[in-house]
Amino acid sequence: MDELEALHQEVRGCTKCPLARGRTLAVPGEGPRSARVMFVGEAPGFHEDRQGRPFVGAAGNFLTELLASIGLRREEVYITNIIKCRPPGNRDPYMDEIEACSPYLDRQVELINPKVIVTLGRYSLAHWLPNAKISQVHGKPIRVGSRVIFPMYHPAAALHQPALKRTVEEDFRKLGAFLAGALKAEEEEPPEEPRQLSLF
Ligand code: URA
Ligand code: SF4
Repeated sequence: MDELEALHQEVRGCTKCPLARGRTLAVPGEGPRSARVMFVGEAPGFHEDRQGRPFVGAAGNFLTELLASIGLRREEVYITNIIKCRPPGNRDPYMDEIEACSPYLDRQVELINPKVIVTLGRYSLAHWLPNAKISQVHGKPIRVGSRVIFPMYHPAAALHQPALKRTVEEDFRKLGAFLAGALKAEEEEPPEEPRQLSLF
């Protein structure tokens, strides 16, 4: 078993916080270990809890559409959440649950080593940029250490608010342009001679 699959298995058996008692299945995350872009949502909802997979309900369908709109397939990105088990009634996660669970996310980031982390919603944004306001930073790449954080509103919130939906669609266009620019920089500059601003 590779390290990422071993980590997924560890999450499936985790009892580090009280959310373990109410879950059907834990949702570790999915996607290739070689993914260069990682999407981090909030927590599993009803369908995710039943299937053990992230973003498979209505918000997931919207996310899949948004990915397709910039030429990305679900299978080529890594998708996970801050919290791996469903909070009862889809309530917001508590601080102590985030503290208990986020070491798994940190290990996923370490193993996959993505260049770009797209945060979906304010909880995952706060993991990397605790003082950032989503209304001010959404749709903009922000360098944090060796990676770029690209904050987005949560697709579930956008589904029920037409203005926010348009904002998320526009932010995805910006993400697409940003990723295309980063890839072009990589082509122009071979990896043997990395330029400081080159992303990949
Ligand atoms: N919302 C999330 O934040 N994550 C999921 O996996 C599904 C819905
Ligand atoms: Fe473990 Fe995270 Fe699930 Fe809590 S939410 S039981 S810490 S996997």
